[in-house]
Amino acid sequence: MNTKDQCKQLLDELEQSHELDRSGLIRLLKYADPERLFAAADRVRKIYVGDEVHLRGLIEFSSYCSKTCLYCGLRAENRGLQRFRMTQAEILGCARRAADLGLKTIVLQSGEDKSYAIGELCEIVREIKKLDVAITLSAGEFTKAEYAALKKAGADRYLLRIETSNKQLYESIHSGMSYENRVRCLYDLKELDFEVGTGCLIGLPGQTPEMLVDDLLFFKTLGADMIGLGPFIPCEGTPLAGAAGGDVGTVLRMMALVRLLMPWVNMPATTALGVKDTEGHRKGLRCGANVIMPNMGLNEYKKLYIIYPGKAQGLGNQDPLERVKALILAEGRRVGSSYGGRRRDLGNLR
Ligand code: 5AD
Ligand code: SF4
Repeated sequence: MNTKDQCKQLLDELEQSHELDRSGLIRLLKYADPERLFAAADRVRKIYVGDEVHLRGLIEFSSYCSKTCLYCGLRAENRGLQRFRMTQAEILGCARRAADLGLKTIVLQSGEDKSYAIGELCEIVREIKKLDVAITLSAGEFTKAEYAALKKAGADRYLLRIETSNKQLYESIHSGMSYENRVRCLYDLKELDFEVGTGCLIGLPGQTPEMLVDDLLFFKTLGADMIGLGPFIPCEGTPLAGAAGGDVGTVLRMMALVRLLMPWVNMPATTALGVKDTEGHRKGLRCGANVIMPNMGLNEYKKLYIIYPGKAQGLGNQDPLERVKALILAEGRRVGSSYGGRRRDLGNLR
């Protein structure tokens, strides 16, 4: 049997059983016929999570960050960046507008802004919860007690990417942070019964296909409910400004493998994918994605939340929500009408 036939066989095995060993996954990540991989992921997506695409209203509420991740424009040492912190009234205003427009999930994202007391975040969560929406938080690392307080206040889900599951690479791009603490946070969130989202950056300097497959196995072992994958996009004002960055093809292959390995997950076509390729969201939806996260913040702040360049492009042209809905319908899919949480009735119950 030639290599292509062997890959076809591995793909059939993965599509049927949603299991494959490390060496098989490495071969599929390098598959010479990625269209087959994408088509299989699309079939599995349709069977397990259907044609609905869930919209999550993203509010980037503070660009202050105490961390110094080498790749990110918000890093504390990027002194050239004008920072903002939304008031509680502004955050609530955005959340209300998103809920009025029919969005059933609000995602609150920020840098690791330690000026917010956990009680303040809890208060914001409690207020937004009154709007009858699911709440996803994405605000970095906390203690287990702090995560527990946020859960008690009403937060339903938490996003914390592992970024890379390779400890050595992780620590080389996250000075002063520990890989073990990152993993501890994710397992604490799982134990506290959050729906947990994680994911990785694709195209980091020194990252290999083997490391990417280890990321997939990490997601599966954790039992992640949501997976976000995006290309690394080099950002001015950071130590990695001159690096090459990730390519869209590899992101799509990784997305397809996630859907095949973990058919029940909620997986966005990420903003970074859409920035790197104007057709990125469409391509993502065809490779297993079932979520899009339109930015429901205020335009004046969107421009300042520069994790990587190009994020705020097209602001003011067309309403981002309308654009996303039109894309979903054009793809023959439907806009999700429920909270769109993890389907507890599907496999791998943890
Ligand atoms: N390119 C792409 N994604 C990035 N992130 C941070 N910096 C970059 C970059 N330069 C991602 C990280 C983080 C998420 C909020 O944004 O994966 O978890
Ligand atoms: Fe801060 Fe998150 Fe950016 Fe790291 S990735 S610098 S924690 S905002």
